[in-house]
Amino acid sequence: MIQPAMASSTAGGRPQIGVLISGRGSNLQALIDAIARGELRARIAVVISNRSGAPGLVRAEAGGIETVVLDHRTFSSRDAFDRAIAMALLDRGVRLVCLAGFMRLVGTPLLDAFPNAILNIHPSLLPAFPGVDAQRQALEHGVQVTGATVHLVTSELDGGPIVLQAAVPVLPGDTVDTLEARVLVEEHRIYPEAIRIVLEGGWTIAARRFVSVAAS
Ligand code: GRF
Repeated sequence: MIQPAMASSTAGGRPQIGVLISGRGSNLQALIDAIARGELRARIAVVISNRSGAPGLVRAEAGGIETVVLDHRTFSSRDAFDRAIAMALLDRGVRLVCLAGFMRLVGTPLLDAFPNAILNIHPSLLPAFPGVDAQRQALEHGVQVTGATVHLVTSELDGGPIVLQAAVPVLPGDTVDTLEARVLVEEHRIYPEAIRIVLEGGWTIAARRFVSVAAS
Protein backbone atom coordinates (compact mmCIF):
# COMPACT_ATOMS: atom_id res chain seq x y z
CA MET A 1 0.00 0.00 0.00
CA ILE A 2 1.49 3.35 -1.06
CA GLN A 3 0.91 6.14 1.43
CA PRO A 4 -0.44 9.33 -0.23
CA ALA A 5 1.80 12.40 -0.47
CA MET A 6 1.92 14.58 2.64
CA ALA A 7 0.93 18.19 2.06
CA SER A 8 3.90 19.27 4.17
CA SER A 9 6.72 18.12 1.85
CA THR A 10 9.01 21.13 1.52
CA ALA A 11 12.72 21.80 1.06
CA GLY A 12 14.01 24.92 2.76
CA GLY A 13 10.42 26.11 2.93
CA ARG A 14 9.90 25.54 -0.80
CA PRO A 15 7.31 22.96 -1.83
CA GLN A 16 8.82 20.09 -3.78
CA ILE A 17 7.48 19.21 -7.19
CA GLY A 18 8.23 16.30 -9.50
CA VAL A 19 8.09 16.66 -13.29
CA LEU A 20 7.25 13.75 -15.61
CA ILE A 21 8.38 14.00 -19.22
CA SER A 22 8.73 11.87 -22.34
CA GLY A 23 10.45 14.20 -24.79
CA ARG A 24 11.53 17.75 -25.60
CA GLY A 25 10.93 19.29 -22.18
CA SER A 26 10.22 22.90 -23.18
CA ASN A 27 7.56 23.13 -20.45
CA LEU A 28 10.04 21.68 -17.97
CA GLN A 29 12.44 24.44 -19.05
CA ALA A 30 9.73 27.05 -18.48
CA LEU A 31 9.33 25.75 -14.92
CA ILE A 32 13.09 25.75 -14.31
CA ASP A 33 13.27 29.33 -15.61
CA ALA A 34 10.25 30.54 -13.61
CA ILE A 35 11.81 29.13 -10.42
CA ALA A 36 15.18 30.74 -11.27
CA ARG A 37 13.47 34.11 -11.84
CA GLY A 38 11.73 33.82 -8.48
CA GLU A 39 8.27 33.72 -10.06
CA LEU A 40 7.52 30.21 -8.78
CA ARG A 41 8.42 29.36 -5.21
CA ALA A 42 9.08 25.64 -5.54
CA ARG A 43 11.90 23.18 -5.99
CA ILE A 44 11.97 20.51 -8.68
CA ALA A 45 13.05 17.48 -6.64
CA VAL A 46 13.19 15.09 -9.56
CA VAL A 47 12.50 14.79 -13.29
CA ILE A 48 11.27 11.36 -14.33
CA SER A 49 11.20 10.25 -17.96
CA ASN A 50 9.86 7.04 -19.46
CA ARG A 51 12.33 7.51 -22.35
CA SER A 52 16.08 7.41 -21.77
CA GLY A 53 16.75 9.63 -24.79
CA ALA A 54 14.33 12.40 -23.87
CA PRO A 55 16.00 15.77 -24.58
CA GLY A 56 14.26 17.13 -21.47
CA LEU A 57 16.63 15.04 -19.34
CA VAL A 58 19.54 17.15 -20.60
CA ARG A 59 17.67 20.32 -19.58
CA ALA A 60 17.12 18.87 -16.10
CA GLU A 61 20.77 17.91 -15.73
CA ALA A 62 21.85 21.38 -16.89
CA GLY A 63 19.62 22.77 -14.15
CA GLY A 64 21.24 20.53 -11.53
CA ILE A 65 18.07 18.50 -11.06
CA GLU A 66 18.09 14.79 -10.29
CA THR A 67 16.82 12.65 -13.17
CA VAL A 68 15.32 9.17 -13.13
CA VAL A 69 14.49 7.03 -16.17
CA LEU A 70 11.69 4.51 -15.71
CA ASP A 71 11.09 2.80 -19.04
CA HIS A 72 7.48 1.59 -19.11
CA ARG A 73 8.50 -1.29 -21.42
CA THR A 74 10.57 -2.87 -18.64
CA PHE A 75 7.61 -3.25 -16.25
CA SER A 76 5.33 -6.26 -16.11
CA SER A 77 2.15 -4.16 -15.98
CA ARG A 78 0.87 -0.60 -16.15
CA ASP A 79 0.21 -0.69 -12.40
CA ALA A 80 3.76 -1.78 -11.67
CA PHE A 81 5.08 1.13 -13.76
CA ASP A 82 2.74 3.55 -11.97
CA ARG A 83 3.76 2.23 -8.56
CA ALA A 84 7.45 2.69 -9.39
CA ILE A 85 6.82 6.31 -10.41
CA ALA A 86 4.78 6.96 -7.26
CA MET A 87 7.51 5.51 -5.05
CA ALA A 88 10.24 7.54 -6.78
CA LEU A 89 8.22 10.72 -6.23
CA LEU A 90 7.22 9.97 -2.64
CA ASP A 91 10.79 8.96 -1.72
CA ARG A 92 11.90 12.46 -2.70
CA GLY A 93 9.19 14.26 -0.75
CA VAL A 94 7.30 15.43 -3.82
CA ARG A 95 4.01 17.13 -3.03
CA LEU A 96 2.80 18.06 -6.52
CA VAL A 97 3.40 16.10 -9.73
CA CYS A 98 3.56 18.04 -13.00
CA LEU A 99 3.13 16.18 -16.27
CA ALA A 100 4.98 18.02 -19.00
CA GLY A 101 4.67 16.13 -22.25
CA PHE A 102 4.46 12.78 -20.45
CA MET A 103 3.02 10.42 -23.05
CA ARG A 104 1.62 7.71 -20.75
CA LEU A 105 -1.82 7.44 -19.18
CA VAL A 106 -1.76 7.93 -15.43
CA GLY A 107 -3.28 4.95 -13.64
CA THR A 108 -4.81 4.31 -10.24
CA PRO A 109 -1.62 3.70 -8.19
CA LEU A 110 -0.24 7.11 -9.13
CA LEU A 111 -3.59 8.89 -8.83
CA ASP A 112 -4.14 7.38 -5.37
CA ALA A 113 -0.65 8.36 -4.20
CA PHE A 114 -1.22 11.99 -5.24
CA PRO A 115 -4.93 12.79 -4.76
CA ASN A 116 -5.73 16.09 -6.51
CA ALA A 117 -2.01 16.68 -6.74
CA ILE A 118 -1.17 15.84 -10.35
CA LEU A 119 -1.27 18.55 -13.01
CA ASN A 120 -1.11 18.27 -16.77
CA ILE A 121 -0.68 20.80 -19.55
CA HIS A 122 -2.55 20.23 -22.79
CA PRO A 123 -2.26 22.22 -26.04
CA SER A 124 -5.95 23.03 -26.60
CA LEU A 125 -8.87 24.65 -24.87
CA LEU A 126 -10.22 21.53 -23.19
CA PRO A 127 -12.65 19.86 -23.43
CA ALA A 128 -12.02 20.49 -27.14
CA PHE A 129 -9.43 18.28 -28.77
CA PRO A 130 -8.24 15.91 -26.03
CA GLY A 131 -5.63 13.24 -26.76
CA VAL A 132 -2.76 13.44 -29.21
CA ASP A 133 -2.23 15.96 -32.03
CA ALA A 134 -4.45 18.62 -30.44
CA GLN A 135 -3.14 21.39 -32.72
CA ARG A 136 -3.78 19.28 -35.83
CA GLN A 137 -7.28 18.49 -34.56
CA ALA A 138 -7.92 22.22 -34.05
CA LEU A 139 -6.71 23.09 -37.57
CA GLU A 140 -8.69 20.29 -39.19
CA HIS A 141 -11.84 21.27 -37.31
CA GLY A 142 -11.46 24.86 -38.51
CA VAL A 143 -11.72 26.58 -35.11
CA GLN A 144 -10.68 30.23 -35.02
CA VAL A 145 -9.50 30.10 -31.42
CA THR A 146 -7.60 27.35 -29.63
CA GLY A 147 -5.18 27.54 -26.71
CA ALA A 148 -3.68 25.77 -23.73
CA THR A 149 -5.13 24.25 -20.57
CA VAL A 150 -3.64 23.26 -17.23
CA HIS A 151 -5.84 20.80 -15.39
CA LEU A 152 -5.79 18.39 -12.49
CA VAL A 153 -5.35 14.82 -13.64
CA THR A 154 -8.12 12.29 -13.07
CA SER A 155 -8.77 8.89 -14.57
CA GLU A 156 -10.52 10.63 -17.50
CA LEU A 157 -8.06 11.43 -20.32
CA ASP A 158 -7.46 15.23 -20.37
CA GLY A 159 -10.72 15.56 -18.44
CA GLY A 160 -9.90 16.78 -14.91
CA PRO A 161 -10.83 20.11 -13.27
CA ILE A 162 -9.41 23.09 -15.16
CA VAL A 163 -6.99 25.32 -13.25
CA LEU A 164 -5.99 27.80 -15.96
CA GLN A 165 -6.53 28.34 -19.67
CA ALA A 166 -5.19 30.73 -22.30
CA ALA A 167 -6.70 31.38 -25.72
CA VAL A 168 -4.62 31.52 -28.91
CA PRO A 169 -6.01 32.66 -32.29
CA VAL A 170 -5.75 30.35 -35.28
CA LEU A 171 -4.49 32.52 -38.12
CA PRO A 172 -5.05 32.14 -41.85
CA GLY A 173 -2.19 30.11 -43.29
CA ASP A 174 -1.35 28.47 -39.96
CA THR A 175 0.32 25.07 -40.17
CA VAL A 176 0.54 22.59 -37.29
CA ASP A 177 4.04 23.91 -36.65
CA THR A 178 3.18 27.61 -36.56
CA LEU A 179 0.12 27.00 -34.42
CA GLU A 180 2.06 24.75 -32.07
CA ALA A 181 4.73 27.42 -31.64
CA ARG A 182 2.13 30.09 -30.77
CA VAL A 183 0.34 27.75 -28.33
CA LEU A 184 3.66 26.84 -26.67
CA VAL A 185 4.32 30.47 -25.77
CA GLU A 186 1.09 30.44 -23.76
CA GLU A 187 1.83 27.00 -22.27
CA HIS A 188 5.12 28.28 -20.92
CA ARG A 189 3.36 31.30 -19.42
CA ILE A 190 0.42 29.55 -17.75
CA TYR A 191 2.05 26.36 -16.44
CA PRO A 192 4.22 28.06 -13.79
CA GLU A 193 1.29 30.31 -12.91
CA ALA A 194 -1.08 27.34 -12.48
CA ILE A 195 1.45 25.52 -10.29
CA ARG A 196 1.78 28.64 -8.15
CA ILE A 197 -2.01 28.79 -7.74
CA VAL A 198 -2.26 25.11 -6.79
CA LEU A 199 0.66 25.25 -4.34
CA GLU A 200 -0.76 28.36 -2.71
CA GLY A 201 -3.84 26.40 -1.63
CA GLY A 202 -7.17 27.96 -0.73
CA TRP A 203 -9.01 26.03 -3.45
CA THR A 204 -11.36 23.12 -3.64
CA ILE A 205 -13.10 21.00 -6.24
CA ALA A 206 -16.82 21.63 -6.36
CA ALA A 207 -18.96 19.80 -8.90
CA ARG A 208 -15.80 19.10 -10.94
CA ARG A 209 -14.87 22.81 -10.97
CA PHE A 210 -11.63 24.18 -9.53
CA VAL A 211 -12.75 27.04 -7.30
CA SER A 212 -11.11 29.26 -4.73
CA VAL A 213 -12.46 28.55 -1.25
CA ALA A 214 -13.40 32.20 -0.81
CA ALA A 215 -15.59 32.01 -3.92
CA SER A 216 -17.13 28.58 -3.29
C1 GRF B 1 3.16 20.24 -25.00
O1 GRF B 1 2.49 20.77 -26.11
C2 GRF B 1 2.19 19.84 -23.93
O2 GRF B 1 1.07 20.66 -23.87
C3 GRF B 1 1.79 18.46 -24.36
O3 GRF B 1 2.96 17.88 -24.87
C4 GRF B 1 3.82 18.92 -25.33
C5 GRF B 1 5.11 18.74 -24.60
O4 GRF B 1 6.09 19.64 -25.04
N1 GRF B 1 1.20 17.72 -23.28
P1 GRF B 1 7.42 19.83 -24.21
O5 GRF B 1 8.03 18.44 -24.03
O6 GRF B 1 7.06 20.44 -22.88
O7 GRF B 1 8.28 20.72 -25.04
